[in-house]
Amino acid sequence: MAMNSWAEDLFQLFQISKKDMESFSAMERRGSRWSIEERVQEEAQFLVEELRKTEAQPFDPTLILSLAPCNVICSTLFNERFQYDDEKLLYLMSLLNENSKKISSPWNQMYNLWPKLIKHLPGEHRAFSKRLTNVKNFILEKVKEHQESLDQNSPRDYIDCFLSKMEQEKHNPMSEFDLENLAVCGSNLFVAGTETTSSTLRYGLLLLMKHPEVQAKVHEEIDSVIGHNQRPSLKDKMKMPYTEAVLNEIQRYITLLPSNLPHAVTKDTKFRQYVIPKGTTVFPLLSSVLLDCKEFPNPETFDPGHFLDKNGSLRKTDYFIPFSLGKRACVGEGLARVELFLFLTTILQNFSLEPLVEPRELEIKPLVTGLLNVPPPFKLRLLPR
Ligand code: HEM
Repeated sequence: MAMNSWAEDLFQLFQISKKDMESFSAMERRGSRWSIEERVQEEAQFLVEELRKTEAQPFDPTLILSLAPCNVICSTLFNERFQYDDEKLLYLMSLLNENSKKISSPWNQMYNLWPKLIKHLPGEHRAFSKRLTNVKNFILEKVKEHQESLDQNSPRDYIDCFLSKMEQEKHNPMSEFDLENLAVCGSNLFVAGTETTSSTLRYGLLLLMKHPEVQAKVHEEIDSVIGHNQRPSLKDKMKMPYTEAVLNEIQRYITLLPSNLPHAVTKDTKFRQYVIPKGTTVFPLLSSVLLDCKEFPNPETFDPGHFLDKNGSLRKTDYFIPFSLGKRACVGEGLARVELFLFLTTILQNFSLEPLVEPRELEIKPLVTGLLNVPPPFKLRLLPR
């Protein structure tokens, strides 16, 4: 996979014009900015150091596997990462965690269906909105600091890029670059980019314990391609078809967002024998494609062979759509793929995953299926390799 520069990644995230992108890329080359890959690599090392502190004792990986992706978003937005015991990071994480627990609750689903009606009633949607406002306020504090030290010629992060764009468009009354939108976009990145990546990683560890033969093959590939003395990097990925197939299979099998996000049809649309009137809300089910039994025989079975051809090379398929399709597809796909590869390979380079019960006794059915397929809780031991 060709790797984007830091500025390209940011602009892809925010979809700013190509011309702007060229000028920012030039600025980046003059400066000493880090690529997204380097940021994730660095976070992966902090993650492993934190995991080492468990000293092969049983632990629940939920919190720590959320803090690492959350730190990557912090680094992307405001060029700062936090220690895993930093109060600010833990506060932010508690807001995000509480909201992701509540997002699939029946009450919040009702709110999504009838927002105009329910917003006037008391209920848990109010606490949900309050926590979201607190995430926005957290971002706005960072924006204030950035405004004081902004150098438009040398953007450090997403907030700097956004502020520069605001400055360029300050005489355009139609501009969508304002502080409110900056806070909303920033909080979207936190909400959409933390729980998704962390749940996938967590589910991934569980599936690798359930299938020790798969874990052994990934270890083998890591040992032969990367070894023990260098950090995993994206250039290794192309030489690791088995690991890539495992990552794809984790995403396919868990079908993290089975019903996708709601979309609305923009015009009257004929679909099979139906006409869907303009404005109708539709849920384009990702599960119907990811679990297609012609494309993936025995779709309910975890089998990296679903993504390998006869020669053991990676099998590409249009049916692999965990990030959805089209204009509204996940803006964080590039970042998420980098994180999944680097976090998982760095963990497995350093540790063997050991379950506390026999693999066949491990429960792998989702705890909850709502907006997300939430992995069941589990503990594990990490044995240093
Ligand atoms: C394994 C990780 C991830 C998965 C499986 C995933 C999947 C998805 C899916 C299915 C959608 C809905 C697309 C649609 O409406 O058609 C989405 C939207 C979105 N994703 Fe991700 N995502 C992941 C990670 C990330 C990350 C790391 C970021 C942030 C950098 C991110 C940012 C977003 C945003 C902002 C949206 C909303 C787009 C909109 O409102 O239209 N995602 N994601």
